Amino acid sequence: MNLTELNKIATAMVAPGKGILAADESSGTIKKRFDAIGVESTEENRRDYREMLFRAKDAMSQYISGVILYDETIWQNAKDGTPLVKLIEQAGAIPGIKVDEGTQALPLCPGETVTVGLDKLAERLKKYYECGARFAKWRAVIDIGSGIPSMTAISVNAHALARYAALCQAAQIVPIVEPEVLMDGDHDIERCYEVTQRVLNKTFQELRVQRVALEGMVLKPNMAISGKKCPKQASVEEVAEKTIRLLKACVPAAVPGIAFLSGGQTDEEATAHLNAMHKLGPLPWGLTFSYGRALQAAPQKAWSGKPENVAAGQRAFSHRARMNGLASKGEWQSSLEQKAA
Ligand code: 13P
Repeated sequence: MNLTELNKIATAMVAPGKGILAADESSGTIKKRFDAIGVESTEENRRDYREMLFRAKDAMSQYISGVILYDETIWQNAKDGTPLVKLIEQAGAIPGIKVDEGTQALPLCPGETVTVGLDKLAERLKKYYECGARFAKWRAVIDIGSGIPSMTAISVNAHALARYAALCQAAQIVPIVEPEVLMDGDHDIERCYEVTQRVLNKTFQELRVQRVALEGMVLKPNMAISGKKCPKQASVEEVAEKTIRLLKACVPAAVPGIAFLSGGQTDEEATAHLNAMHKLGPLPWGLTFSYGRALQAAPQKAWSGKPENVAAGQRAFSHRARMNGLASKGEWQSSLEQKAA
């Protein structure tokens, strides 16, 4: 393992003004997104859609540091035969790959899951590296509900995250470590804070036990935020203040960067929260976005599967990428959203 090189990549992934595009929806998830805009989820449509994003030069070269791909996409070529990975590299962004294989029911723990995909991961990582991937992602899912999460679910998921991260570093790939505490449910921000704290502490304990070099990884956490169905929704300032307090308490300064998931927040909420956190600086790590839905909802709608809408889709993507790029420096204002509308 060359830690200097891993650290260089991790640092580039969270460079000020830039963040990560999570375009790694599994076939099932992208079908759901396409259903919502009336587009059939064929291999060609998935390719055309992602090609549209990766060819959005403004967004990709100025605001996007890296792109997380799904296995299908990393091997795909654009319509003109150029590998999609090359389009990303040509725009100056770093290609990455989602390597977990989704969740399975966790035995003896009703309602909870464990993320799988460690078998053969070492061999798969080698092929992804050869194809150009310089970072990877593994998402663990922790749900909040009555009597959950159990310590069992937190523990097995943290263990798997650390196993994955160690395998990545051994393969010279920067691991994005993503323990996602879901914002579904009616819990308040305090409960989210408390559960996320337990999850992060256990995750870093496992990372240490398994000798993962913190300097060569990126953390992808949820924010401390109210459950979607909670009657009392915390303000932007409260989300920012609690999230920063939580991360300062749990994430060592050796970690070069933190890149949030959006998790079901609206586009503008996700931007406003990140922006507000930067108002609380200076911060010990790079802090940016690794959004899926909050970057793609607008371009998906604008595109709607029609070739004549490609430019409109790219404009919508560029706008969200720019807003989040500004938020990653604390330079976003809501008036910039209205101007674009
Ligand atoms: P969302 O931003 O849509 O939550 O997706 C990010 C991601 O990569 C989840 O694993």
